[in-house]
Amino acid sequence: MIFLDKLRKSVFIGGRTLTILHPVSLHIPRGQFVAVMGPSGSGKSTLLGLMAGLDAPSGGEIRINDRVITRMNEDELARFRGVNIGFVFQSYQLIPTLTALENVQVPLEIQGRAGAGARARELLAAVGLQSRGGHYPAQLSGGEQQRVAIARAFACRPPVLLADEPTGNLDSATGGQIIELLRALHREQQATLVLVTHDPEIAGAAERTVRLLDGKVAEDTAQPPQPARARALR
Ligand SMILES: Nc1ncnc2c1ncn2[C@@H]1O[C@H](COP(=O)(O)OP(=O)(O)OP(=O)(O)O)[C@@H](O)[C@H]1O
Ligand SMILES: [Mg+2]
Repeated sequence: MIFLDKLRKSVFIGGRTLTILHPVSLHIPRGQFVAVMGPSGSGKSTLLGLMAGLDAPSGGEIRINDRVITRMNEDELARFRGVNIGFVFQSYQLIPTLTALENVQVPLEIQGRAGAGARARELLAAVGLQSRGGHYPAQLSGGEQQRVAIARAFACRPPVLLADEPTGNLDSATGGQIIELLRALHREQQATLVLVTHDPEIAGAAERTVRLLDGKVAEDTAQPPQPARARALR
């Protein structure tokens, strides 16, 4: 469950205050798949960064699974994030000096989980990359790197998965596979999935679309989720 209560963000820039997010209040029940849409500059990435605790709001409160993350200090936040939140970026953000397998293993090792290697191999297999574990990010295509990033985001089975335009740099067929993979993992692990996208077709797969405009929620609509296609990746 994610609860945003009058969440605000403004920055002081060039001698004046720029409001990026006006008070936004949202309740996202556990396990829901929400698409966040809106024009460039409307505040989507800002909202997601705040939900992930990667950025501090100017006001308001964020509760995730009944913990108020906006009151945590850096250490508490880092620990909370490690256990509860998976984040997928548009630009993958893999560690270039580590192999695919090692990238997936990192969050498991930070958590001190036993069997990190086995779990990482299982995750790479789930995203169809079992044979690429020894490859470095530069040796993988964009779609493959994003699959590694998704495996990493799901490594610790976080109850909340946040994805900021995860298919923005991919062709539409590869993007479609990435979305199917996110949906499959979301279903299998009952994770709450908040996905920023510009693509109406991708948003159509969600149960709900929140549309931002100038830092405000302009529209919040529930929709019947599309039936899942067959597993796109094996
Ligand atoms: N740290 C910052 N300092 C100044 N302005 C910022 C900062 N972060 C974001 N902004 C501004 O806030 C607005 C919202 O930015 P944000 O990145 O959230 O938009 P977005 O909806 O994700 O856009 P896009 O679709 O292009 O990714 C933009 O006008 C941006 O320039
Ligand atoms: Mg953005």
